[in-house]
Amino acid sequence: MKNYIPTKLKILELLKSQPIISGETIAKNLKISRTAVWKHIKGLQKKGYNIEITPKGYMLKNNYDLLSEEELFNLPYKIYFFQKVTSTMDIGKDLGEKGKEGIIIAEIQTQGRGRMQRVWHSPPGGIWMSLVIRPSLSLKQAFILTYIACLATSIAIEKTVNIKTYLKWPNDVIYKLNEIEKKLAGILLEIKGEIDEIKYAIIGIGINVNNEISFLEPQAISLKEITGKEIQRKEIIKELVFTFNNLLKKNPNEILNLWKEKSLTIGKKVKIIHPEGEEEGLALNLSEDGALILKTHQEKILKIYSGDCIHLYDV
Ligand code: BTN
Repeated sequence: MKNYIPTKLKILELLKSQPIISGETIAKNLKISRTAVWKHIKGLQKKGYNIEITPKGYMLKNNYDLLSEEELFNLPYKIYFFQKVTSTMDIGKDLGEKGKEGIIIAEIQTQGRGRMQRVWHSPPGGIWMSLVIRPSLSLKQAFILTYIACLATSIAIEKTVNIKTYLKWPNDVIYKLNEIEKKLAGILLEIKGEIDEIKYAIIGIGINVNNEISFLEPQAISLKEITGKEIQRKEIIKELVFTFNNLLKKNPNEILNLWKEKSLTIGKKVKIIHPEGEEEGLALNLSEDGALILKTHQEKILKIYSGDCIHLYDV
């Protein structure tokens, strides 16, 4: 991991520390020339930082929740930050095909996608990211990555925003608003590989943070709506990535148990909608290979590997 702090980040920290700061002060502080300071300021402006240049010095106007490679420099993966992409999953695929790992983050996705070919609305202010990794797992073991990503997302939100979150099978992070389940985040897993080995996995994570929620998604909620204030996305991203890496070292049973502790699905009457049809019954448990174990009304025990889950009621 890099152990130096990029000059642009040091300049940002200085800009954030006071309302106005002269080029000379920054130059002295960082032991660089005033021309170098000016070049970095220009670079920051290009990245979307609104820095006003006045006769008395530089002023940072929008200093709160901007994302950039600089602000996320100390993560264990290389960050690829874009203002606008079709989907971070598409860029993730390019990266995976090149034999690389990394995290792709975008301010806006024009063709963000969710599970089951659904559209994922991705206006500015959310966390839209894909983590590309090359874990030594077989295709059969890859299911664990969705559970790890759900857990890491939920834990990261709880730690940084201080609210309680829950998990819903198979891939949702939920907030309970007056006992009504609202979706805060979702995970999308795409994998390239052979039976015995994954070549790469793209783990797409979408979190509603400071973004507007579309009227087409009444079941969704954002962190800003819950807390009433703007949230720093970079803090969530940092926590999420470190938690994800720690969970990756745990054995699958441990992960499934942690997931179950946060789950709203296990113990509920549910309806599962999957490509072959619908099933209703009691969600009993998760199997070792990642399926939802369902006891139907006819007392049949089914293992369901994918589908949409609707919570009917507690038993
Ligand atoms: C779901 O709940 O259906 C999964 C949603 C996953 C959305 C994320 S946002 C970042 C990444 N890029 C996409 O196009 N989708 C995932």
